[in-house]
Amino acid sequence: MQRPRSVREANVKGKTVLVRADLNVPLEDGRVADDTRIRASLPTLRYLLEHEAAQVAVCSHLGRPKGPDPAFAIAPVAAALRELLPDDRVHVLENTRFDLGETKNDPESAKRLADGMDLFVNDAFGSAHRAHASTEGVAQLLPAYAGLLLEQELEMLGRLLGDVERPFVLVAGGAKVEDKLGVLLKLGSRADVVLVGGKMAEELRDENPLPYDAELPRDVVAAAGFEADAESNVVPYDALPEGWLGLDIGPVTRKLFAEKIRSARTVFWNGPMGVFEWPRFAAGTKVVAEAVADADAFTVVGGGDSVRAIQELGLADRVSWISTGGGASLELLEGKELPGVAAIPVG
Ligand code: 3PG
Repeated sequence: MQRPRSVREANVKGKTVLVRADLNVPLEDGRVADDTRIRASLPTLRYLLEHEAAQVAVCSHLGRPKGPDPAFAIAPVAAALRELLPDDRVHVLENTRFDLGETKNDPESAKRLADGMDLFVNDAFGSAHRAHASTEGVAQLLPAYAGLLLEQELEMLGRLLGDVERPFVLVAGGAKVEDKLGVLLKLGSRADVVLVGGKMAEELRDENPLPYDAELPRDVVAAAGFEADAESNVVPYDALPEGWLGLDIGPVTRKLFAEKIRSARTVFWNGPMGVFEWPRFAAGTKVVAEAVADADAFTVVGGGDSVRAIQELGLADRVSWISTGGGASLELLEGKELPGVAAIPVG
């Protein structure tokens, strides 16, 4: 994989720098509910300030508004950033998606962003799979560099595409099967063991296009309905009662998955094993998270839900790399070119 040129190669002293970060964080009651992505953007911003940039304008999208919408105003994110990095040279621009040209990569939108800026630093790994005005378009108008987070994400995820230490275990779960099939096909073929849980497993049971044997659950925690307190039972995977839903992997599967993960030397985990937000269906995801943390291996966790699970369990610092990218990490691991990265000249 070719590396985009680094912000470390730029002369930022006295410059007005536009930074595209991915500050697309969850909000609850108008406040930032998880500031992982904001914290992850700090090293690049600090780097620019330490190297005497005159002004740093930070831009990001937030949610998926269709034009200006107060519910998606960037203000709570800007406030959270200011608390972490109180420096008058840093300004946060309004949600890039308030401009309808943003997602169409409209050159006029890119021009508005570039106006008055000397340099562009793209640090938004989580949005690098989008060819938008603030990720791709503006990189055509200003000298463009990769930020420190973007670089590190490419380095860590890139390792999974190279010569990995074996056994290499891929753990896939969650919903959105269509988004993940590419990774299962590409990376799964290179893995020694592929463990599949969550809704993914259910869909693969019904129709399995994988050219190799994946470990599907042996048993599941079946629930009478999609409710946190639904009546539930552990049943063999192929004996789910009519109308019931598999909301977690069962104890036999948990033990099997944990053993495979613990003996791995490389692990990539994307997607929970069940509806872990509900305590009665969280055990499978918890066991997988603990096994990933315990493994004496290079371990990478990507995707919003699995990252949230590992963080809520307090295991984040026992994982080699937690990716800030969901879709972006999957596309990279599928071997696709990321437009936000491709737009930066090679270093
Ligand atoms: C994400 O959360 O995966 C990124 O911020 C991209 O957001 P999007 O899917 O709305 O483009």
